[in-house]
Amino acid sequence: MTDRWYQKAVVYCADIDTFADSDGDGCGDIRGMIGRLDYLARLGVTCLWLNPIHPSPDRDDGYDVTDFYNVDPRFGNLGDFAELLHEAGNLGIKVIIDLVVNHTSDKHPWFQSARSSPDSPYRDWYVWSETEPADRKQGMVFPGEQDETWTYDRTAKLWYYHRFYKFQPDLNITNPAVREEIKKICAFWLQLGVAGFRMDAVPFIIEETRPGEPNATKDLEFLSDLRQWVQWRKGDAVLLAEANVEPDELSKFFGDGGGSNNRIHMLFDFMLNTRLILALAREDAEPIIDGLRDTPKLPQGGQWATFLRNHDEIDLSRLTTEQRAEVFAKFGPEPEMQLYGRGIRRRLAPMLNNDRRHIELAYALQFSLRGTPVLRYGEEIGMGEDLTQEGRHAIRTGMQWSQLPNGGFSAAKTGDLVRPVISGGDFGWEKVNVTVQRHNPQSLLSWFERMIRTLREAPEVGAGSCTHIDIPAPTSVLVHRADGETGTMVFVHNLGTEAATLDLSSLADEAEQPNDVLADQEYPELGKWDKVEVAGYGYRWIRLRRTA
Ligand code: NOJ
Repeated sequence: MTDRWYQKAVVYCADIDTFADSDGDGCGDIRGMIGRLDYLARLGVTCLWLNPIHPSPDRDDGYDVTDFYNVDPRFGNLGDFAELLHEAGNLGIKVIIDLVVNHTSDKHPWFQSARSSPDSPYRDWYVWSETEPADRKQGMVFPGEQDETWTYDRTAKLWYYHRFYKFQPDLNITNPAVREEIKKICAFWLQLGVAGFRMDAVPFIIEETRPGEPNATKDLEFLSDLRQWVQWRKGDAVLLAEANVEPDELSKFFGDGGGSNNRIHMLFDFMLNTRLILALAREDAEPIIDGLRDTPKLPQGGQWATFLRNHDEIDLSRLTTEQRAEVFAKFGPEPEMQLYGRGIRRRLAPMLNNDRRHIELAYALQFSLRGTPVLRYGEEIGMGEDLTQEGRHAIRTGMQWSQLPNGGFSAAKTGDLVRPVISGGDFGWEKVNVTVQRHNPQSLLSWFERMIRTLREAPEVGAGSCTHIDIPAPTSVLVHRADGETGTMVFVHNLGTEAATLDLSSLADEAEQPNDVLADQEYPELGKWDKVEVAGYGYRWIRLRRTA
């Protein structure tokens, strides 16, 4: 059995400020999070990923940090955080935090010092240019919200580089002092007890940016170095990276090519995410089959993290213009649902017209595919989006706990909330909340609990291989298998609305007391496997064999 905990984990991503407010000031806090750990444990979560927790002017939802060694006072203090780690540990939940070291906030004391004088010890911690860089309008991540990647600083009388917003100056990775500081930050939080880091913007961290050279070289060796450092400090700590790069670049983030996974343990599977969304839009399994086939083989220990929704827009930039248009037409037809010309700022339930069967199908599919599943808070109860909010905030509204005012998120006056809780209509807290769903075995939340419990009895999904089974089937149906030391699972998912009957008799010989461990409905016994039925938007998780 694999001893790598992250291969069998179920990761839940939450933002402290919008999860649960314990003191009624309108902002979620660490004590509020502690109070909800039992909810996460019951759901089956084994790893909690917290979006940035550090002090921040909060102009990019905390991804603009002013102090890497503290928690934002709005959330509590380090004592509360240590308590959170302890309580989570008691419930078998590991905690990982966002490590945002591509840039700092422009209000960070390092940047304030750096800009103030050429003699500042921090001057060379950032990336400067004396002249206006010719490429200053290139490489923007947030078109429409960002005009340039080099901005003139009147105090320094220099241009500074910022891959993201102009209030997020990039740190200079070529400076050894910056590298040492990044390691020190990791060491600090590991010492406090976190289980690892979700590393923000990894391809940009390692970019050796110079003015006028838009195709900066990437120092991948820094990742080997950081991995070694982290592992030395805490043997089973994990690095989970955001690296939305071209498929042929992915392997380099896992390892140096020598065959071992000596860089990042886990990468978010952006490629599969895009294919999944396209497949759901087309009701056709082909894009997923292509995705499984086109992915590089991972070194032993390397792992994918799968997701349908994260805290940003659904990024469709790797689709062709026509494919993107198809997805927009289906899932984000109104301009206000789209963002940066490449993405969708909606949650999954409204994208799927709140069709319960379709939502189940989509999540059953994600959780059964290779890798470690990551779930964004609120998806488990089918929360919606608030398109009146700016940009990505549409899907960052308060968690809907109950039918109390503000959905039980906070006792503050509604106008004083850090961000609104969705109210009214099909997705408002009055209808969609944890309390209503908690005791209803038919609810989406109860379904998620069952589905996650079932997954945890099938460790081959996370720790084994994932293969498409190529048999004659309607294009809407995906059949795949997971093989591992514990045995084999077979999965049938129907992305379309038409029921299908499949001939899976080629699997019959392998089957030892096969049975549906999870399905959208009761199906007839498998018999000779020559007439395996699956309903429209139906799914069947079948245990084929168990060896351990
Ligand atoms: C990626 C994060 O996911 C996103 O939310 C953030 O705005 C940028 N990095 C900048 O830190």
